[in-house]
Amino acid sequence: MQVLVTGAAGYIGSHALRALVGAGHRVIALDNLSRGHRGAVPADVPFHQVDVRDTDAVETILREGRVECVMHFAAFTYVGESVEDPLLYYDNNTRGTLSVLRAVERAKTPRLVFSSTAATYGEPTEMPIRETTPQTPINPYGMSKLLSEHMLRDFAAKSPHFGYSVLRYFNVCGCAADASLGEDHEPETHLIPVILQAALGKREKITVFGEDYPTPDGTCIRDYVHVEDLADAHVKVMEALAPGDARVYNLGIGRGHSVKEILDAVRRVVDRPFKVESGPRRAGDPPALYADPSKIERELGWRARHTDIADAIESAWRWFLAHPAGYGD
Ligand code: UFG
Repeated sequence: MQVLVTGAAGYIGSHALRALVGAGHRVIALDNLSRGHRGAVPADVPFHQVDVRDTDAVETILREGRVECVMHFAAFTYVGESVEDPLLYYDNNTRGTLSVLRAVERAKTPRLVFSSTAATYGEPTEMPIRETTPQTPINPYGMSKLLSEHMLRDFAAKSPHFGYSVLRYFNVCGCAADASLGEDHEPETHLIPVILQAALGKREKITVFGEDYPTPDGTCIRDYVHVEDLADAHVKVMEALAPGDARVYNLGIGRGHSVKEILDAVRRVVDRPFKVESGPRRAGDPPALYADPSKIERELGWRARHTDIADAIESAWRWFLAHPAGYGD
């Protein structure tokens, strides 16, 4: 298939692009490079430095490239930043998706896979989280993605020749096995890379945000899913998409790890000391979030292969050791 990958220079987009190429698909990369890295996209892949809100430019790429599927990753993903500047998120994420959908409508592109998030569930009413668990986001980031899901659903309802999928990611982690692609965020706030940066001496310490949660060891529990598994799921979902499909799936491993368990796992993988301190809770962190990923396994046979958290930590550690300055841009 001919696939347009938006946000192709970002962490998840770049891994998905590689999985698509590996599965024999043809790809076109799009990124405005506001947060992505040109070096994350192979030099032999057609690349457009375009903002998804430029509807005419996206439409032209879809038409000229005879694109058969859009994988729409381009978005901002910092919860804290979304609270500080909500309109930035509604503009970049929600208006960005609206623009992509308008271009898809005009170019009659038949498929779209949308990058959504467990943040759309907010503080869930049941655990594990199913696709039918009510979505009540507690921050503008989650809401910007939920509004995009709704637009997609309503657009698809009147477009019988269009098929789409919404993939709700849990805590994405790890890097390409060969350490050629990785996580390079500025600022970095995610737990595993933050700990690894402390181990590398790039930050003084790691602060545990709250040890008084109602969990067995008092720290928050999350479902950590390896980015390569996530990328494979995208390929599988896309290949299954038929006209009229509306496939919504949670992508997680179905099991949680606490912050303390992650710290212990890093200590086993990394032979360097690092300083850990206890801090207060971070606003908006629910105690436990983990997926029921059985729907995608039942319908498409996908399940996460990396279920040992050490695999993900090792791959991220290799990336950091090989690329101390990230992509270096
Ligand atoms: N944490 C710390 N110290 C840190 C960083 C994180 O204790 O320095 C804790 C957090 O409090 C949380 C856990 O580690 O309990 C994971 O935090 P992350 O910031 O790595 O990830 P989040 O769970 O906050 O959010 C991530 C993505 C969201 C997505 C969500 C889905 O960033 O986009 O997973 O579960 F919605």
